Amino acid sequence: MDYMLPAKEVDYYVSPTCLLALIRLYESTSLQASTVLLLLITIFMLMGFPLHLLLLFVHSAICSSGQTFPYMTSDVQQVSGRFFDYIVVGGGTAGCPLAATLSEKFSVLLVERGGSPYGDPFILESKQYGFSLLQTDEYTSVAQSFVSKDGVSNLRGRVLGGSSALNGGFYSRASEDFVAKVGWDIGGVTDAYEWVESRIISKPDLTHWSYVAAFSFLEAGIFPYNGFSLEHIQGTKIGGSLFDEQGRRHLSADLLQAGNPSNITVLLNATLNNVIFHTNCTRDEKIARGIRFIKSDGSSNRTYEAYLNQPDNSSSWGDVILAAGALGSPQILLLSGIGPQEHLNKFEVPLVLDLKGVGEGMRDNPGIAILADSRPQNRTPEPPKVAGIADDFKIIIEAGILPISFNATVIPIAAKIAFPESVGKLELNSTDPRANPSVTFNYLSSKKDRAQCVKLGQLLERVVRSESIAFFLGSNEHQNKLMSTKDELRKLCKKNVRTFYHYHGGCTMGSVVDKSYRVYGVKGLKVIDGSTFLESPGTNPMATLLMLGRYQGIKILQDRKDASFINPRT
Ligand SMILES: Cc1cc2nc3c(=O)[nH]c(=O)nc-3n(C[C@H](O)[C@H](O)[C@H](O)COP(=O)(O)OP(=O)(O)OC[C@H]3O[C@@H](n4cnc5c(N)ncnc54)[C@H](O)[C@@H]3O)c2cc1C
Ligand SMILES: *[C@@H]1O[C@H](CO)[C@@H](O)[C@H](O)[C@H]1NC(C)=O
Ligand SMILES: *[C@@H]1O[C@H](CO)[C@@H](O)[C@H](O)[C@H]1NC(C)=O
Ligand SMILES: *[C@@H]1O[C@H](CO)[C@@H](O)[C@H](O)[C@H]1NC(C)=O
Ligand SMILES: *[C@@H]1O[C@H](CO)[C@@H](O)[C@H](O)[C@H]1NC(C)=O
Ligand SMILES: *[C@@H]1O[C@H](CO)[C@@H](O)[C@H](O)[C@H]1NC(C)=O
Ligand SMILES: *[C@@H]1O[C@H](CO)[C@@H](O)[C@H](O)[C@H]1NC(C)=O
Ligand SMILES: *[C@@H]1O[C@H](CO)[C@@H](O)[C@H](O)[C@H]1NC(C)=O
Repeated sequence: MDYMLPAKEVDYYVSPTCLLALIRLYESTSLQASTVLLLLITIFMLMGFPLHLLLLFVHSAICSSGQTFPYMTSDVQQVSGRFFDYIVVGGGTAGCPLAATLSEKFSVLLVERGGSPYGDPFILESKQYGFSLLQTDEYTSVAQSFVSKDGVSNLRGRVLGGSSALNGGFYSRASEDFVAKVGWDIGGVTDAYEWVESRIISKPDLTHWSYVAAFSFLEAGIFPYNGFSLEHIQGTKIGGSLFDEQGRRHLSADLLQAGNPSNITVLLNATLNNVIFHTNCTRDEKIARGIRFIKSDGSSNRTYEAYLNQPDNSSSWGDVILAAGALGSPQILLLSGIGPQEHLNKFEVPLVLDLKGVGEGMRDNPGIAILADSRPQNRTPEPPKVAGIADDFKIIIEAGILPISFNATVIPIAAKIAFPESVGKLELNSTDPRANPSVTFNYLSSKKDRAQCVKLGQLLERVVRSESIAFFLGSNEHQNKLMSTKDELRKLCKKNVRTFYHYHGGCTMGSVVDKSYRVYGVKGLKVIDGSTFLESPGTNPMATLLMLGRYQGIKILQDRKDASFINPRT
């Protein structure tokens, strides 16, 4: 079965003037429009910000539409037994830009356990944001739910595009400090961010709520106001978005058109069981040779295989590259026999390599949220478009309008700890590759995180008590409440800790992969996704994961080119 990727239309964004911004604000307001408008302008001026700061930089999302499309199939027979230069496992946020880039020079197989996102309005329309998160089932829904052993509910993507098909789409680059710390080269990183941005990132359409959120953050003291920015800078800013001005989501899968689509085969609805290794006893090395997979629908237990091309000299071998996310990639390594020996013995997985770090270093940024509305309303859902970056980058705050059912929404004002210290662990819970592994994040187990959570609570209370929010809701119930004591906030943190869905780790750099993302101790196997993060980028991770796929793809192309010059025959 073939699927077509939609071509992005060429759209020009008209440069907004101050007037236009205000007219839009006015248009998007309902009954209390004039009141809210006056209030917002007053607050803005009282704070000493000139109105022209409302001017947002034009972000052109102009992108030429691809002429050809990758070949997509759900028919395992069409892939079974075939050879490719590279095999990328997981068609998610990092996996799609990676596969697209490698296809510029090589043949690529991209294996994704979920189906196609195209044609699904819950995925593609901003107005339906969050509906895909409400309907989860064990084996087929595009959002797969899991509950960590801490008891916190969480989600992961199961569709081509991965979590970028169902997330809030908020796009924010990592800071240069983070880039330096990981050891990436800033020039290559900037090129890769720009490659992504010119294709799928837009300046979002600002609604009444976006302005209210921005003003409420400013009222709470999150300065300065930075307007629209893709950079991770302190203060209140409007971020980039996967949603364009018409409210249509673009996602990592759209990037598949950007390489040489005719050299990518996308296999959908197929779940990886394990990586196949070849052992050369003379050299005492294990080399990834291919993959073993099953149909995701569970209709049979039959396994299928696909392989890496085997040129007659070893310097030109491709790789199997895992991009299955922070839960998927460590799980696949474990199922392939790479991980702590004792744990693998427990599940009778034949050992390939005793690698203690697999599943270690799992982190999730703890968050708490306060509902602005005391009762659910029936508003149009809306992903967060504004972020407050506070307390020396240690706190990130955002607020969208989220559905809790098909006719009810809430407005959680949510903040996360940007750099959690607490760390947990991932283990298998079964040898079924379709089942969730078991994961613990140990939220707030560190004293520092607990103290930071109290600060989070104080900031949130200042935001919900703002004039802007009171006017938006037409009620000042929050303002009438007393501020919580530190002790009350400590209890709130413990009881209400939640996820921001920014979990990472499990195959961290330095313990599972080296600086080139190669898995230690074996050949021909890499991991390139959020599981390799030793530390959170602080800001929302998606931008950095899209960038990472492109950046590492370019590195691989360059390394292969260098190798063929220096060492044509090994
Ligand atoms: C609800 C939600 C909201 C979010 N909001 C934002 C936001 O607004 N901004 C932001 O920056 N970040 C946000 N995030 C976080 C961000 O989306 C993720 O951190 C990021 O997408 C992870 O990218 P990844 O490439 O590591 O994994 P993913 O994008 O999850 O990709 C992994 C892919 O691998 C596939 N896979 C897994 N196992 C297998 C297997 N065995 N065989 C075959 N395929 C497999 C999965 O189906 C998936 O497609 C949000 C996340 C969620 C869940
Ligand atoms: C696909 O990649 C292979 C290298 O494996 C190359 O020989 C071939 O020409 C490529 N095909 C196209 C259409 O680019
Ligand atoms: C892939 O799986 C999804 C989810 O089960 C399903 O809706 C879709 O029809 C499948 N696609 C094909 C072509 O089998
Ligand atoms: C193992 O490696 C040696 C030395 O490079 C090589 O000569 C031999 O062909 C390899 N054996 C297999 C089975 O690949
Ligand atoms: C697959 O294997 C499992 C366990 O071996 C078994 O319980 C299940 O019925 C099998 N499913 C099919 C479709 O054969
Ligand atoms: C949503 O619908 C249910 C049942 O149809 C109703 O009881 C509920 O009040 C509605 N909620 C809102 C917020 O409209
Ligand atoms: C582990 O599997 C068991 C059943 O096999 C299930 O009851 C349990 O919920 C699973 N745990 C996790 C964390 O998924
Ligand atoms: C050996 O590998 C290099 C690339 O590393 C390639 O250019 C060369 O053609 C290969 N030789 C053979 C005989 O395949």
